[in-house]
Parts: sequence; structure tokens; C-alpha cells
Amino acid sequence: SGSATLIALVVGYLFGSIPFGIILTRLAGGPDLRSIGSGNIGATNVLRTGNKKLAAATLVGDMLKGTVAVLVGARFLGGPEAALAAGAGAFLGHLFPVWLGFKGGKGVATYLGVLIGVKASIALVFAAIWLSLAYLFRYSSLSALVASVLTPLLLWFWVGMPKAALVMAGLTVLLWIMHRENIARLLAGREGKIGQKG
Ligand code: G3P
Repeated sequence: SGSATLIALVVGYLFGSIPFGIILTRLAGGPDLRSIGSGNIGATNVLRTGNKKLAAATLVGDMLKGTVAVLVGARFLGGPEAALAAGAGAFLGHLFPVWLGFKGGKGVATYLGVLIGVKASIALVFAAIWLSLAYLFRYSSLSALVASVLTPLLLWFWVGMPKAALVMAGLTVLLWIMHRENIARLLAGREGKIGQKG
């Protein structure tokens, strides 16, 4: 029903709005992520502090909040449609967290976390695409942009999940919009490579 979907969106949003990069970097006595590198609050930018463990922990936290939102939606908030709504809410929470004046992250880790909850096999394919492209080209953003375009197609045509495909397509559009500066840098040949400081 409509109210179940709305509740799932809000619950998902609350999970998604937890900014693990900011919290963990602050606990570790590091700098404010928004003042270094790309200024983003995600794992890629935490890696620019030079702390690989902290970057990994940020990746896991920002992923798991998406997965947990989907599972909570499925189990407690009404089933498959609530699961998708909670996942979308988590993604929106990461992008627009009320706690950071609605200025959040670019969504890659949370997108993958949501996808784990929606269809784990496709999440594995996403991870494989991301890792292959990152290995070949060393751009975190490019890897995510490509993997996120293929995801809705795979959901629809490979595993026959049209509703999930449409929701993830919506998240892909938002992910691309959040990466507009990265896209401009990629086109200009100025995008920072993975682990590169500055
Ligand atoms: O997850 C964000 C990644 O795709 C790009 O991050 O810090 O290089 O803008 P960043």
C-alpha cells in the first residue's frame, strides 16, 4: 500500500543518511573529508587520506546500510515493494543526509549495498565490472558509472526483475547526476586515479 511504501522510504532514508566516511574519519582523528581530495564523503575520498583500513570500513558501512534497509523493508515493512522503497530511501539518505545539510555522497557503495539486498548475483556482477574497470583504468568514478548503467539492464533482461530494474535505473540516473563533476574531469583527462592524493 501507499503508506507502507512511504514508511519504507523513510526508514530506508534514516539508515542511508548515516555518513560512515565522516564518522569513521573523525573518530580516527583524520581531516574533514569535505576539505580534502574531491571533497566527497565516500570511501574513494577516505582512501586519499592514506588510510586503507578506514576506506575499507567506510565502503562496508555505506554498503551495509543499503543492504540492511532492503532486508528490513522485505522482512518487516511489507515485502518486495517495501524492500525496493527502503533501498531507494537508503540511497536518497546517502545522497541527501539531513545531518549534513542535505549534502551527502555520490552513492556508489550504497547502490551496491541495495543491489546486494535486491539480487545478490547481479551485485556480484556489478562488483566484477567495477573491479575489472578499476584494475584497467584506475578511475573509481568511471568504474561506477559503467557498472550502474549495466545493472538495470541485467536486472530486467537477465534475471527478469522489471520493477527492481526500474527502481535501480532511477538510482543510476541520480548516481550519474552526482558524478557530473567527475564526468567533466574524465572528459577533460583530469580525473584523479584511485589512491592518488590531492
Ligand atoms: O564513490 C564516488 C566515486 O565514484 C568518486 O569519488 O571522491 O573520486 O569523487 P571521488
